[in-house]
Amino acid sequence: MSLYERIPNNVDLSNDKRLLRALEHWLPNYMQWWSDMGPEGFQADDVYLRTAVSVEPGGWAHFDYVKMPDYRWGIFLAPPEHDRRVGFGDHFGQPAWQEVPGEYRNMLRRLIVTQGDTEPASVEQQRLLGQSAPSLYDLRNLFQVNVEEGRHLWAMVYLLHSYFGRDGREESEELLERRSGSDDKPRILEAFNEPIVDWLSFYMFTTFTDRDGKYQLLALAESGFDPLSRTTRFMLTEEAHHMFVGESGVRRVVRRTCEIMRETGDDDVRRQGAVDLPTVQKYINLWFSLSLDLFGGEVSSNAASFFSAGMKGRAQEPKYADHMALEGAYQMGGEQIPLRNAMNEVLRDSYIEDCEKCLERWNRVIAEHEIPYRLSLPDRRFHRHIGAYSAHSFDPQGHRLTVEQWNERCDEFLPSEKDFAYVRNLMAPGPKGTPEIGKIAHWISKPTTGIHGMPFEFEYVRREQ
Ligand SMILES: [Fe+2]
Ligand SMILES: [Fe+2]
Repeated sequence: MSLYERIPNNVDLSNDKRLLRALEHWLPNYMQWWSDMGPEGFQADDVYLRTAVSVEPGGWAHFDYVKMPDYRWGIFLAPPEHDRRVGFGDHFGQPAWQEVPGEYRNMLRRLIVTQGDTEPASVEQQRLLGQSAPSLYDLRNLFQVNVEEGRHLWAMVYLLHSYFGRDGREESEELLERRSGSDDKPRILEAFNEPIVDWLSFYMFTTFTDRDGKYQLLALAESGFDPLSRTTRFMLTEEAHHMFVGESGVRRVVRRTCEIMRETGDDDVRRQGAVDLPTVQKYINLWFSLSLDLFGGEVSSNAASFFSAGMKGRAQEPKYADHMALEGAYQMGGEQIPLRNAMNEVLRDSYIEDCEKCLERWNRVIAEHEIPYRLSLPDRRFHRHIGAYSAHSFDPQGHRLTVEQWNERCDEFLPSEKDFAYVRNLMAPGPKGTPEIGKIAHWISKPTTGIHGMPFEFEYVRREQ
């Protein structure tokens, strides 16, 4: 199969000799990275996966069994909008750029590389999880997320190769060289250097960190650099499933815990082999706070420059009345911040609002079981490592703590070593290894539906014999 047939695309790859040549060099390195850092132990198995094959709203994805190394990572851009204009900032109303504007070249490259770096990072973080999957359905969902994060890397590498010449090629190689958690070549953003070793962490990550991804992509989808806008708009269609995996995963854990609490009447559900709700709360505290950091500092001149340049907007920019954002201020703890400098905080606000909806859904399950407990998001000041609140410690309600108070109480707020050990042990692989068809681990409930019209009792992953 020739290279352009191997890569599904809507960018007329067969006629773009320069891009083809660049990808010919990059592809073997990508495949090497996938075999070194992709899901460990399942590369020879048939997995029931969806593959993006077009950008048609109704039929963009094809579902079938595929071995992960044979997955057809493609390049898709949302269809062009006729006469698209820059939607915000200093160039508001001017025609959108089809080529990189020289004065914003470095800025754009940095935005693309930072986004691109998160994609392979998450695959690396999750690479051992397959061994402890609670069901074949979940195992398949993990791999679906992994191959699509791989495709998102392709999406960013496409932009680097097509629009940034030699620097773009170098950046593309470096995207394959950094490693999550490495001391000398770590991934760029901190939440992407934390290993994900248990499935509760995976569901939290896909709820909160992939949702950060959604908001970054929404902001980039507004970009006046049209190829970036079109690329990220298509990535958002895939991202929705990742967040579904997370939100419904936590919901199923919570449901199972509630069922066990009702059935046994035992207050100590750990004795019954379930995740107690206070531990779920601590995991929320951890992954929500790590994900908040990804939006950057509250007051940011970088964010202001991205906005002024028309490179990175707000989520759903058209819903705002004023696209210049030169007047008005953002209220931050009694201070007035010029709006453009507060763009990280504006995006973080949209994100938090969205996260609240997940909490509502989880709490509804608890309420249905008539259990007097509520999960909640911690205050945005809690456990921050970046920005105005990083210099001090706060409890989940946002009250300032002294260092001594924090050290004394942090195990109340965040999973302790003991909590992690309990969860890891609970979710350790069973004696038979991969789950059987239709079976589910004790600590999580079955999903209400399967994938693509298939029942839960379907062989989503066929182990090689
Ligand atoms: Fe992604
Ligand atoms: Fe994702």
